[in-house]
Amino acid sequence: MTKTLMTTVAALAISTTAVFAEGQVIGFSQIGSESGWRAAETTLTRNQAEERGYQLQFSDAQQKQENQIAALRSFIAQGVDAILIAPVVATGWDAVLEEAKEAEIPVVLLDRQVDSSDDLYLTAVGSNLVHEGQVAGEWLAKEVGDKDCRIVELQGTTGSSPAIDRKAGFEAGIKDHANLSIVRSQTGDFTRAQGKEVMESFLQAENGGKDICALYAHNDDMAVGAIQAIKEAGLKPGTDILVVSIDGVPDIFQAMAAGEANATVELTPNMAGPAFDALEAFWKDGTAPEKFIQTESKLFTQADDPAGEYEARKGLGY
Ligand code: AHR
Repeated sequence: MTKTLMTTVAALAISTTAVFAEGQVIGFSQIGSESGWRAAETTLTRNQAEERGYQLQFSDAQQKQENQIAALRSFIAQGVDAILIAPVVATGWDAVLEEAKEAEIPVVLLDRQVDSSDDLYLTAVGSNLVHEGQVAGEWLAKEVGDKDCRIVELQGTTGSSPAIDRKAGFEAGIKDHANLSIVRSQTGDFTRAQGKEVMESFLQAENGGKDICALYAHNDDMAVGAIQAIKEAGLKPGTDILVVSIDGVPDIFQAMAAGEANATVELTPNMAGPAFDALEAFWKDGTAPEKFIQTESKLFTQADDPAGEYEARKGLGY
């Protein structure tokens, strides 16, 4: 092959990939809009799709698994080029994932896991949810030292992988510290409103909150709701009751800057970037990605310039 011909072939290969990926139709089944983090994930997915020239079919499941299953069936019937799904709960996906596989439509899981066989999806993009909980638990154990500490826990959506794994991780993080114990634990469904409501009942049951040393919330939104409840009970969140949670949304950094929250473990909302990269490689030549593409989790405390972190995040779609 002459040099000119080789250059032309190479250039063609590059542009074929770009053109091939452009115009792809992606079905995205989102859980809903329960938290600031979820809103940011939706915004970033839309932006990424637009930048790459995809056509995104967006479906909001309003927290219901049956809506997600119906959305997936509709994407399959349309013959989309790929499906993204953030699965609200971990169980009950086998049948619909089998249908997608039968139709040869690659499925990518975003931010939450399912208990189905990993043959049924192309890859899953997400953080190590157990590790997030463990980091939060270890931070708290270090913070309280030898002091006795009665902890209340706000769990995420019942049956969701972050609620299951963040609980297990936190318990592992405090297990070697007999002075720390979880005295109350209930779901707040990852929402600010339920975080506040459940925290009010915890405060009432625990001597107006005087018997609570710390709150562990499975996401920042529930923590923000709980902070409001603590203030309304006449206590100082961040001082009288330590607050540790997960996500790294702007509002929690604002609360940390005001001394009302103590620590958060960041979860990036950019799950779509790695998901689309994996899909592009797969469309190009069938390259199979790793079954789990792990995003980073980072601990932030009041010592990590929370006001600056707030400024850096406030325009990002949270
Ligand atoms: O699955 C990720 C979790 O879901 C986020 O921590 C939470 O905010 C969201 O609703």
